[in-house]
Amino acid sequence: MKLSWLAAIAALGVAKTVEAIGPVTAVGNKFFTPDGKQFFVKGIAYQLTEGDPLVDTEQCKRDVALMKTLGTNAIRVYHVDPSKNHDGCMKALNDAGITALIDLDTFDTYILPATPAWTQTMHDRYAEVMDAFIKYDNVLGFFVGNEIISTEAHSNAAPFIKAAVRDMKAHRSAKKYREVPIGYSAADIAELRPMLQDYLTCGGNSSENVDFFALNSYEWCDPSTYETSGYVNLQKQAKDFPVPIFFSETGCNVPGPRLFDDQLAIFGPQMINDWSGAIVYEWIQEANHYGLITYGTPTKVEDAIGGFLRSGTPTPVLPDFENLKEKWEQVGQPTGVVKGKYDVKHVSTRPCPEPTEGGWLVRGNVKLPSVGESFTGTFESMASVTAAPTSATSGEEGGTGTAANPARETQNPAAPTKVVFRGMVAGLVGVMLFFTVWF
Ligand SMILES: *[C@@H]1O[C@H](CO)[C@@H](O)[C@H](O)[C@H]1NC(C)=O
Repeated sequence: MKLSWLAAIAALGVAKTVEAIGPVTAVGNKFFTPDGKQFFVKGIAYQLTEGDPLVDTEQCKRDVALMKTLGTNAIRVYHVDPSKNHDGCMKALNDAGITALIDLDTFDTYILPATPAWTQTMHDRYAEVMDAFIKYDNVLGFFVGNEIISTEAHSNAAPFIKAAVRDMKAHRSAKKYREVPIGYSAADIAELRPMLQDYLTCGGNSSENVDFFALNSYEWCDPSTYETSGYVNLQKQAKDFPVPIFFSETGCNVPGPRLFDDQLAIFGPQMINDWSGAIVYEWIQEANHYGLITYGTPTKVEDAIGGFLRSGTPTPVLPDFENLKEKWEQVGQPTGVVKGKYDVKHVSTRPCPEPTEGGWLVRGNVKLPSVGESFTGTFESMASVTAAPTSATSGEEGGTGTAANPARETQNPAAPTKVVFRGMVAGLVGVMLFFTVWF
């Protein structure tokens, strides 16, 4: 109701300030705004070039004005430069009721899956990003990594992800910052996802566990359904999850056009009790064809990066833009539960996973690496703080159902960070050749 009213105002071209969304907190598996309302993410991935998109205030204003008409309340930014000033963009977002999820890692401080390490340099760079953004009340959360783990061998990087979480939470308390949620954005790999999401929340020590878990999933390719897409399995594994879980990328574009029917499932009765929304990939149209908007056709080659204009006046890519707008209008502003009535005991922590055939490698709860450590080949095991899991639910149970549809649950072929990172550091594996190149 409120959304369509806003859309109508925007259509008339009347300037209207929506309510800013103050600091959001994570309680149990929900996000709440300061007034106690549950917060559901309706987000857009926003990364126009490899550089920081939150430094050009005029560009932000142009994009935010159009984004607002979609009903967006969050953006995700993969790469920022903590030495720059972000006041203008963060204010433009805030004035439009839009929060921001920021990746703390930059393209050169990523945790490497093949040779995992957590160094002082990485620690300090992550902390600088937090220091630069914590002052904005509309920062919804920070990611300590994006799709670091995408094959079996990579699961040894998981304790390093948790070490990053531990140290960023310690930094947050040492600096007396607000409890801004800190989490991880995972690739959707059927053989690893259930174990990873449980691992990052297990062991019973909240100083080391993620405040939220997010998933980059391209399982739902329209036309599809809750059952055939595989979302039914994602839901099984997310039921009563101990921290908020949401899609940090979604929006399969094969074959296209995108109908965004998955939004009706995510914000509908099937999933809404356990999920906190979705971020659609992505704002700008580029070679991978995931764009919701375009800045037009470059008239001169030198105006373009990778063949596309990356600033200017945004124009909706149709019908995808209108389809998303329609779906988000249809789901409206879900009420969920109010904080005062929410019983946090509904959630359950799962046991730390054991190794699985062709999947997870880390055995149970292991001693986390300290700053300066790199992977030596084994981890020292460690008892969990709570001896018994609080629930019998296990990630592996749900995992069996997933195997029925493994082909669909592959990693996102389009995420820019992955391409840049792999190309730079780890070298291209065969499958990468099919990926769309970022630049
Ligand atoms: C929980 O983790 C923190 C950070 O690693 C550590 O300092 C603390 O001792 C742990 N608590 C328990 C009860 O093990």
